[in-house]
Amino acid sequence: MNYIELELSLSSVDIYSDILQSDLCDIGFESFLDKKDGFFAYCQKDIFNQEDLDFLLNAFRENNPSVNVSYDIKEIEQQDWNMEWEKSYEAVLVDDFCYIRASFHPPIKNVEFNIEISPKMSFGTAHHPTTYQIIQLLRDEPLEGKDVMDMGTGTGVLAILCKLKGAKSVDAWDNDEWAYENAKENVMKNNVEVDVKLGDASGLSKSYDLFIANINRNILLQDMATYSKHLRTGGTLLLSGFYDNDVEILEKCANENNLHLVTHISKENWAALRFIKKQ
Ligand SMILES: C[S@@+](CC[C@H](N)C(=O)[O-])C[C@H]1O[C@@H](n2cnc3c(N)ncnc32)[C@H](O)[C@@H]1O
Repeated sequence: MNYIELELSLSSVDIYSDILQSDLCDIGFESFLDKKDGFFAYCQKDIFNQEDLDFLLNAFRENNPSVNVSYDIKEIEQQDWNMEWEKSYEAVLVDDFCYIRASFHPPIKNVEFNIEISPKMSFGTAHHPTTYQIIQLLRDEPLEGKDVMDMGTGTGVLAILCKLKGAKSVDAWDNDEWAYENAKENVMKNNVEVDVKLGDASGLSKSYDLFIANINRNILLQDMATYSKHLRTGGTLLLSGFYDNDVEILEKCANENNLHLVTHISKENWAALRFIKKQ
């Protein structure tokens, strides 16, 4: 099966790459590689439909008139696609703490944790600043004997790290079936005990010492009260998936739910926050 490679260039990459990649998934594109001024997107030739692409890009241009978007398309052999993709898919090293790699990268030494992730479509390869920053915050979390929830687990990378770092129990939930399957696969690959489930905050029944949610601003605002209810007093809530501009509204909502902000870090305008649950 041959593939279509779409090379898309944007005058402003920021959030627009994420928006377009999510739209392209809906018309059959299955993997993406970032470049400085945009990204490459890949779709099986049989599935690719030029009309769908034109429709999507016209709608994008109408909704975002200030952003220039241009593209190039070429057909490539599957074998070349696999090779090209693997060559340009980089592993991620978070400080000297955690190395997140695909099966075709050898593990490295001089790092506390090596995690293998099957790089499919699920979010959570640590290339994104939100995942990267939660991993940085986890470095300072003492996890021995702790019960952990990773809500919106994606690939399961954060849950796997928590278990490797000594957590007593780790639950990893996602409301997306694809992410759920991918997280299960990655948990097995890394040979850890993590309880992966398809679900969201409405299904919570246990209490946790550490609650992680890297989702998005609106879901976090909507579910904050439930997260707090299922967090033990003195426990930690790690949040990401929103911009620095959204920190104020998230902090206000957290305060209303007995959570106190203790850490705010930021990377490329994406924020990650640590809250502690008060008495
Ligand atoms: C930004 S990704 C984060 C993935 C991973 N935890 C990471 O840090 O890289 C958010 C994930 O949350 C899932 N999600 C979205 N809304 C959700 C909800 N209401 N409850 C649970 N999971 C949700 C998505 O399917 C997606 O896999």
